[in-house]
Amino acid sequence: MSPRSDPEFFDAMFRADPDPWRFDTDWYEIRKRTLLTAVLPAPRYRNALEPGCANGHLTRALAERCDHVTATDIAPRALELARARCRDLPHVTLHEWAFGAPWQWTEPFDLVVLSEVAYYQPAPALTDTIADLGVHLDPGTTVLAAHWRHPEPDHHLDGDRAHHVILTTLPHHRIAHYRDDDVVIDVLTTR
Ligand SMILES: C[S@@+](CC[C@H](N)C(=O)[O-])C[C@H]1O[C@@H](n2cnc3c(N)ncnc32)[C@H](O)[C@@H]1O
Repeated sequence: MSPRSDPEFFDAMFRADPDPWRFDTDWYEIRKRTLLTAVLPAPRYRNALEPGCANGHLTRALAERCDHVTATDIAPRALELARARCRDLPHVTLHEWAFGAPWQWTEPFDLVVLSEVAYYQPAPALTDTIADLGVHLDPGTTVLAAHWRHPEPDHHLDGDRAHHVILTTLPHHRIAHYRDDDVVIDVLTTR
């Protein structure tokens, strides 16, 4: 397998298996969601953006802390599954939108969560995507990034390289950093 960025690849994955990463049961995934909600510095956020929401597990966890969550994915089947998972949460809206596509949001976000999504772009494209994100976020926005550190055949970058691009491209103050063998997490505030 080679690195992938195309919606068809991810859509086929969710059509073959509604939980391809075992978000329900895999200890890495369960522990990561716990870590992510624990490192968020504020008790509440007004409006969060979560690109790459997959079938909506992390979306539900974020929804407990946010007045509104805008969650997006490039795979239509993932969005169907996320809609079903979040159907009792009217403050969650789901959109087909690729992180890296032209910015389409008019409302300001005070939280952006990039969890396991940045490494589906090669470094030059990710640099452009993060630069564009920086243009559209207000100063003081919390950006939470978390990525699996091990190389994977369908990833353009490993987690450390993806975070290097984020940290060197987005103007920020870093307020927290966590790394173990499996995951790297950074919490940034935009400047
Ligand atoms: C490993 S899952 C991450 C799920 C969730 N963010 C989490 O950490 O639990 C990756 C998801 O990113 C989506 N994806 C890949 N590239 C994307 C992009 N450029 N924009 C939005 N979603 C993307 C895939 O379809 C897939 O659902």
